[in-house]
Amino acid sequence: MAPVTVTNPLEQLTERELRAQRTSAKWRAFPSDVLPLWVAEQDSVLAEPIVRAVSDAIARSDCGYVATGRDYAEALASFAVDRWGWHLDVEHTAILPDVMIGVTEMLRLLTEPGDNVVINSPVYPPFYSFVRSMNRAIVESPLTAEHRIDLDHLSRAFAAATIGGKRAAYLLCSPHNPTGTLHTTAELEAVAALAEEYAVRVVVDEIHAPLVYPGQAFVPYLSVRGGERALTLMSASKGWNLAGLKSALAVAGPEAAADLARLPEEVGHGASHIAGIAHVAAYRDGGMWLDALIAGLDSNRRLLADLLAEHLPTVGYRVPDATYLAWLDCRALGVDDPQMTPGLVTMSVGPAAMFAERARVGLSAGTAFGSGGNGHVRLNFATSQAILTEALERMGRAVTPT
Ligand SMILES: Cc1ncc(COP(=O)(O)O)c(C=O)c1O
Repeated sequence: MAPVTVTNPLEQLTERELRAQRTSAKWRAFPSDVLPLWVAEQDSVLAEPIVRAVSDAIARSDCGYVATGRDYAEALASFAVDRWGWHLDVEHTAILPDVMIGVTEMLRLLTEPGDNVVINSPVYPPFYSFVRSMNRAIVESPLTAEHRIDLDHLSRAFAAATIGGKRAAYLLCSPHNPTGTLHTTAELEAVAALAEEYAVRVVVDEIHAPLVYPGQAFVPYLSVRGGERALTLMSASKGWNLAGLKSALAVAGPEAAADLARLPEEVGHGASHIAGIAHVAAYRDGGMWLDALIAGLDSNRRLLADLLAEHLPTVGYRVPDATYLAWLDCRALGVDDPQMTPGLVTMSVGPAAMFAERARVGLSAGTAFGSGGNGHVRLNFATSQAILTEALERMGRAVTPT
């Protein structure tokens, strides 16, 4: 039987335990005296239904290939109705190894080498590196100072991307990494109208969709007026911390179903059966755990605001509406931050390098996120309040003249 309550999954392990138990990227990239608040992994303990489902599968040696991916689509469909009031069509889905492979495969369906892909900078660095690796060109459309989509600029970017009748796609991040912006229905409808006007095809990465704070609503792009021609990517991986058990689903709007049907069958061959079992358990039985996580993150995003006010009052921070990522504007600290090629994930330039060196806190360097990233760092607050507090105290001391 499912437990009646779930305690905050972020407050179960101490720093010492995390260091001893975690062998994934987050806790291994830095020396052992650095508090790692960089890559998007959580310091949570896994949801019990996921542990049970995966352990049971291993115990019965159920380690073959994915059968169809239909279980994944049905579990996500029922989660989507419960959480977002949205009915997704399981017939118009495809199972994928992970979201970024999904992004590249969707772009491959809609564009050719040499075509343009519009993105909203600053954005998740692999948007640059994966798109570049497919020989598509990036057209940046920066977010506004309030971290919202700049519709005027987007219109100009679509015009530039499609000049001379060129084919183009728009890769939208919703909710947005690194700013935690939650796009509204009105914004998404305006995006869809512009995409229609310029014949730009839309691909939406909705990996952070489960991580939305109370009082806010995630709007699936396919649910908005004009979203019918889009392809979206969803996954339980960020919500339930399953990057080590990757899986994802592509979902086509009714007018993009024929495009998704052209997806080469072998793309689905890379999907992991055990990861699929984990994701299905998350969607079906991980709701209470997710709510407990979000309650913990909700406290953390506010605690971070208090800690910044106390220890780093010149650092800019807009409390995010979604995700466990904080985009910190450190330009007032006056740390030199050389421009670098966006897309290369790094912790060793600009303010991130300064905090790693002087505060022993590991953050993601903003410059990797493209235009608008200079002088910024991304901080992952999916950790305990003790670690978050210690990190901010150290960061404050690092910039205080002695
Ligand atoms: C916006 C976004 N897309 C994709 C990913 C990675 O997803 P996957 O590991 O399934 O490729 C991340 C990871 O943080 C992300 O933030």
